[in-house]
Amino acid sequence: MEIRYHGHSCFEISGYGGRVLIDPFLTGNPKADIKAEDIQQLDGILVSHGHADHLGDAIEISKRTGAPIIGVYEMALFCERCGARAHAMHIGGKHEFTFGTVRLTQALHGSFFEVPGSENNFEYAGLACGFLLQMEGKWLYHAGDTGLFGDMELIGRRHPLELAMLPIGDNFVMGQEEAAYAATLLRAKRVIPMHYNTFSNIKQDPNEFNEMLRRKFPESQGIALKPGEILRID
Ligand code: NI
Ligand code: MN
Repeated sequence: MEIRYHGHSCFEISGYGGRVLIDPFLTGNPKADIKAEDIQQLDGILVSHGHADHLGDAIEISKRTGAPIIGVYEMALFCERCGARAHAMHIGGKHEFTFGTVRLTQALHGSFFEVPGSENNFEYAGLACGFLLQMEGKWLYHAGDTGLFGDMELIGRRHPLELAMLPIGDNFVMGQEEAAYAATLLRAKRVIPMHYNTFSNIKQDPNEFNEMLRRKFPESQGIALKPGEILRID
């Protein structure tokens, strides 16, 4: 399977069952290596919450490709009202799609849609979540936007993780130290840091994170992908 990073928290994951996009913030993302219209064939769009740097181009891409937006019920319904296809789920539940299995996990974060012109300029989007994704028999974890929480240990115990994608930007989400500690709870074989250096208030040095991870949990390999780079897992 191939994991391609598009900057911020956006990943494109392709396996023999299909291809999914996670948190497709491309338009307006200074780190994105592609444009939304470059995404052609797609089987699912996983969106962790309604904030613009995660929902991103999901609705437009869904309308154009027919791929369903997968996320919590409240967010899925909103996307449907906007003309997208959606598959509503909620935290703790799993569903088997053609491309693989998705389970929603908790995330310690807020969620709303910024909708200019609506009554309060925002709409309720339910709870923020993270994703467990099983493709080609392997479990991957995308934490979404979240602070550190102890039940990451439970996630790792119940799903042996080939890869965890963890935010390290601090301020809105975990910083480097929390993310390195999260890796010890999750016991993932590999960790890709995300949600950093997109904006001036989430500046981090991913090599520093990798070094911290090496000291705290040497069983795990830190892999800082540049936008456009691909990690292959066989
Ligand atoms: Ni957010
Ligand atoms: Mn965010």
